[in-house]
Amino acid sequence: MFTGLQPTAASLHIGNYLSAIKGVLALQETHECILCVVDYHAITVPYDPAQLYQRRINIAAEYLAAGVDPERVTMVVQSDVPEHVELAWLLGCLVPVPKFEQLPTYKDKKARYGSAGFGLLAYPILMAADILIYKAEAVPVGKDQQPHIEFAREVARRFNHTFGPTFPEPHAEINAGAYIPSLDGQGAMSKSSGKGTLNLSDDEATIRRKLARAVTDPARIRRTDPGEPTRCPVYTLHGCYTPQPELEQIAAGCRSAAIGCLECKRLLADEVVADLGPLAARRAALLAHPDRVREILAAGAKTCRPLARQTLDEARHKMGLS
Ligand code: TRP
Repeated sequence: MFTGLQPTAASLHIGNYLSAIKGVLALQETHECILCVVDYHAITVPYDPAQLYQRRINIAAEYLAAGVDPERVTMVVQSDVPEHVELAWLLGCLVPVPKFEQLPTYKDKKARYGSAGFGLLAYPILMAADILIYKAEAVPVGKDQQPHIEFAREVARRFNHTFGPTFPEPHAEINAGAYIPSLDGQGAMSKSSGKGTLNLSDDEATIRRKLARAVTDPARIRRTDPGEPTRCPVYTLHGCYTPQPELEQIAAGCRSAAIGCLECKRLLADEVVADLGPLAARRAALLAHPDRVREILAAGAKTCRPLARQTLDEARHKMGLS
């Protein structure tokens, strides 16, 4: 299993935790896993160089705090294994430019930032190289990344067809139920917008305050107005925390206005605080001694470089470069 984590925010949010991180925690039981902090991807859009290095430490600390076991999972920083970039160059020579231009994430980001550098266009070939260099098969990602996995599969097929069987075709592991809405009711909770998020760095008071202010079903203006739980971001989060019988009670209480939004939010806050509190404490302890995190990442580079080198040499040889 291989997945990439973009160091694009100071802290991950509960949506990343409930979908991406929990998915990795399940897979670490059964797969050989590599988690890669993809800093070369993070620099394909405008960013602050003063924050990039710290963010790699933060995201690694958050995965560890959430329960990633460094004895079983290799954690590595992409730019510590430059072989990824060299393989991306080789693979990029197999793909016509329009294939890059068609990808929705490229079009979206180009529109959002008003222009696109070569790095943004080349983004999916580096992602394909990240995966293929370890001959990874399972790739847990969010739904938005599915076109990139499809792209990586096509790259593998092209290479195998042209130069002989080399790469397995990777498949996306899409975590169902991974959609966590933003607390402001504006689409999915998003690292890049940073609004309406519950962060893994938030303390108890912040979690309670943010939940108290969260948007609920707009139909519930007064306490006595009945609501529709499926329109409510707070209820969606309840679905991740509250066991079935209580969850049904909450849904029925919302529809009959037997339970108010404040009460419903308080019940959720208790559960979120109980779950994230210990995680936040472990996160803080790791960040107080970041040398431990740096050691884990350095060990990851030591493990990954020979693996990456081997695949790169194989590809170079097949392409007539050695
Ligand atoms: N593009 C992915 C994202 O934004 C990050 C990523 C880079 C990745 N390389 C990868 C994910 C390889 C899976 C496999 O989420």
